[in-house]
Amino acid sequence: MERVRFLWQSIKNFKEMGTVIRSSPAMCRNMVQYIDSRNDLIIVELGAGDGVITKYILDKMSKDAKLFVFEINPELCEVIASIKDDRLILINDGAQYMESILLKYEIETVDTIISAIPFLVLPENLTKEILNISKKILKSGGNFIQMHYVKNISKMYKAIYGNVEINYVALNIPPGYVFRCVKKEV
Ligand SMILES: C[S@@+](CC[C@H](N)C(=O)[O-])C[C@H]1O[C@@H](n2cnc3c(N)ncnc32)[C@H](O)[C@@H]1O
Repeated sequence: MERVRFLWQSIKNFKEMGTVIRSSPAMCRNMVQYIDSRNDLIIVELGAGDGVITKYILDKMSKDAKLFVFEINPELCEVIASIKDDRLILINDGAQYMESILLKYEIETVDTIISAIPFLVLPENLTKEILNISKKILKSGGNFIQMHYVKNISKMYKAIYGNVEINYVALNIPPGYVFRCVKKEV
């Protein structure tokens, strides 16, 4: 049922969704592999869709951690809201507003950011805005994790973070890539 709702929302809002099929278990596992269960206490997920990766993040994080989930689609937020977990804070708003929204929770820096926002179909200025804010709020040494279906976008991440590691995930439709950038210590 969740799959059908995701497909329908994808067809209606393709310019925000960028795909019609949600991430596979293999993709979800790859995305959460860098979470440091002991030390990552504030985790942010961007573009959660119906929460398919959200569940894997919650499984991996510690009981004291908090997960802030940003998703712009209200119908998909209804699906995410059915995940009952006190550590989950669902925000039905754009990732471009995350800095000011997190400040309302007295959060200035975050430990890890996991994103499935389809930057390739978003306006370039919005993509840059979200990526710059992400780097700004990420702690030194923190991970920025992003999925894409193409590899040739890696230059953009290298330019922002000075490093990028890429994992190929064959068991996904279509096969995709997980990009991992680490914010250098300053
Ligand atoms: C490719 S789907 C990924 C869904 C799910 N995380 C997955 O991996 O299957 C991208 C999601 O990003 C959301 N999105 C697009 N622009 C956004 C923005 N500016 N802020 C937050 N979410 C956004 C879309 O509504 C969509 O649900």
